[in-house]
Amino acid sequence: MSTPSLFDNDIPGEVRAELDDLRHQINQANFLYYVKDQPTISDAEYDRLMRRLQELEEQYPQAATPDSPTQRVGAVPQTEFATHEHLIPMLSLANAFNEDELHAFDDRCHRFLGLEQDQPIEYVCELKFDGLAMSLTYRDGLLETGTTRGDGFRGENITENVRTIKAIPLNLHHTLRQSLDVKPLPSLVEVRGEVILTHEEFHRINEERETSGEPTFANPRNAAAGSVRQLDSRVTARRNLTMFCYGVGAYEGVDFETHYEILIALGDWGFKVNPNVMVAGNIDEVIAYMNEWADKKEDLPYDIDGMVVKVNSLAQQTRLGSVARSPRWAIAYKYPAHQARTVVNDIIVQVGRTGALTPVAVMEPVEVSGVIVSRATLHNESEVHRKDVRIGDTVVVQRAGEVIPEVVEVVKELRDGNEVEFHMPTKCPVCGADVERIEGEAVARCVGIACPAQIRENLIHFASRGAMDIDGVGPALIDQLIDNNLIHDPADLYFLKKENLVPLERMAEKSAENAIRAIEQSKSAPLSRLVYALGIRHVGERTAAALAQHFGSIDELRNASEEEIARVPDIGPVVAKSVATFFDQAETDEVLRKLKEVGIDPREEKIKETEEFAGKTIVFTGALQRLTREQAEEIVFKLGAKPSSSVSKKTNLVVAGEKAGSKLDKAQALGVKVISEDEFLEMMERVGVSIEE
Ligand code: IVH
Repeated sequence: MSTPSLFDNDIPGEVRAELDDLRHQINQANFLYYVKDQPTISDAEYDRLMRRLQELEEQYPQAATPDSPTQRVGAVPQTEFATHEHLIPMLSLANAFNEDELHAFDDRCHRFLGLEQDQPIEYVCELKFDGLAMSLTYRDGLLETGTTRGDGFRGENITENVRTIKAIPLNLHHTLRQSLDVKPLPSLVEVRGEVILTHEEFHRINEERETSGEPTFANPRNAAAGSVRQLDSRVTARRNLTMFCYGVGAYEGVDFETHYEILIALGDWGFKVNPNVMVAGNIDEVIAYMNEWADKKEDLPYDIDGMVVKVNSLAQQTRLGSVARSPRWAIAYKYPAHQARTVVNDIIVQVGRTGALTPVAVMEPVEVSGVIVSRATLHNESEVHRKDVRIGDTVVVQRAGEVIPEVVEVVKELRDGNEVEFHMPTKCPVCGADVERIEGEAVARCVGIACPAQIRENLIHFASRGAMDIDGVGPALIDQLIDNNLIHDPADLYFLKKENLVPLERMAEKSAENAIRAIEQSKSAPLSRLVYALGIRHVGERTAAALAQHFGSIDELRNASEEEIARVPDIGPVVAKSVATFFDQAETDEVLRKLKEVGIDPREEKIKETEEFAGKTIVFTGALQRLTREQAEEIVFKLGAKPSSSVSKKTNLVVAGEKAGSKLDKAQALGVKVISEDEFLEMMERVGVSIEE
């Protein structure tokens, strides 16, 4: 065999085998995690597989394929999206708002199909996801394009963004057991579905945006739409979007008789299909299902805006056809809206932690599905003008899912001419400093460095969960502490005495004691939490953790130059500048000095690659006593080793816990070095890693 040279296009057989194996393992892990919600491997193991695959693809660029999992990280930003024509148009749905309208739909279907009332029609009931409609085209099993709905005939080609959504397979493959009666893979298919964000992701993104002073999204739907239509797909990649698939457009090389068969096939081909689907024997069963979901829908971890009813038989669907761009064979059922009318008494401006000014509608209190609503954020000045909300207006407010109330629209017919337009103040309503609005940014900001509103928000943030986590020190107490001149910056909290608190309103002896104890306990918060708590613009929890791990102490971070900070993985120039500027302020110095004075100077272990572990493959097996397997894998990963779940000739070390089974046998048969958990812990001590329990 000749040695492969630089000019040799061939990839050695063992490399090809490893590439195939890595891609298979990563695809499988993605599928189980993002489609089936059943994580199987640790993050460390996943990162290791990904790193190895990237390494091989860099070494053998000719081996890169469009469906490799490395293609999910996002590509270079685009300037605009190309247009893509759907092979079969994406229709919209007519609505039904009550049981009578569902019966009318059923009657219409009977009439068109020439069926008697005693010949029931079979329907499929599904959730109606509140996100963004999407069409995915697969040719010869490969994802070719991802497209928005657009005008129904042509949409925007957003393939680069779609690739980053891990619930979307890059190639089609069977995932169900072959013994089941599965459909063959199609040679061509347009898969239709909805891209959504879970409530959890929506809140995470908004918190991150709040931290960095960007305007927050009004609801998960807007956030999903904003994320999917990013020109920079690397931004989309960080948004953890997901997609539920509910149908097909054009397809070739496969046959179906019912809609339900399509859903099963989609699930088999690797798509995420929602499990809350029911085949109903007649319209009464449909109605029972709709009623069952009236309450249940509130518990879903994502928003839906109703249910969809579809005729199950595809032959019947074809006979029913469509009218005015809606199919006659399907209807959306909308639950009564959580809406109410009320009057806007005022539009006030709130000042956030980063100085961002947010207009808020103060309304006549009104009940919206069991909750009294009196305030709704209007987000920013442009949004107020877009909705044209004026003081004195009658507006429709709504609560969607668990999301904060919003002003849907103004009832303009009720205007009498006395309504007052809103304008963003040019001076901060709290401190009187100038308000600036940077060209192209939606947010107006108070530039005052000693703005009490910003100081208050900063203090609340400092004590909040995820930051210093000081139980019992919330907004109400912080307001009192500020009003009584007891604190001016976060460090002042640590100089409080019980006697300072007891005279405050709603402060019994016991609660004062508890607050002081919680403040004292927070002194031992790890560095990452302290860095986050300082409230540096653009520094969320993840960035704080990266900074803490890289610099190891506040002093090292403070002394680092902007360039050094920018060299930390995952930290870009904007964040680096913000961090450097923060530590340049005299006010910051003063806070840090006082924190040190009370003994707050946490250190984070700077774990580095060690010679002993770099490049070694390590397998943990059996039950470990002092660590979880994930922790152990994480530790050796940071030391440069590759944790793995299977033993082979290439394994360098096996750490065997109690009741280790076949992996231990295999290691012994192959002559791989085996050590006990205690020996492993001793090794860790030698390389200077202390294990937290
Ligand atoms: S079926 C011809 N099923 O609702 C059938 N649509 O007006 C068209 N939607 O934006 C769609 N969940 O993206 C269907 N389970 C579901 C759906 C669903 C949400 C959206 C769809 C479109 C709108 C239809």
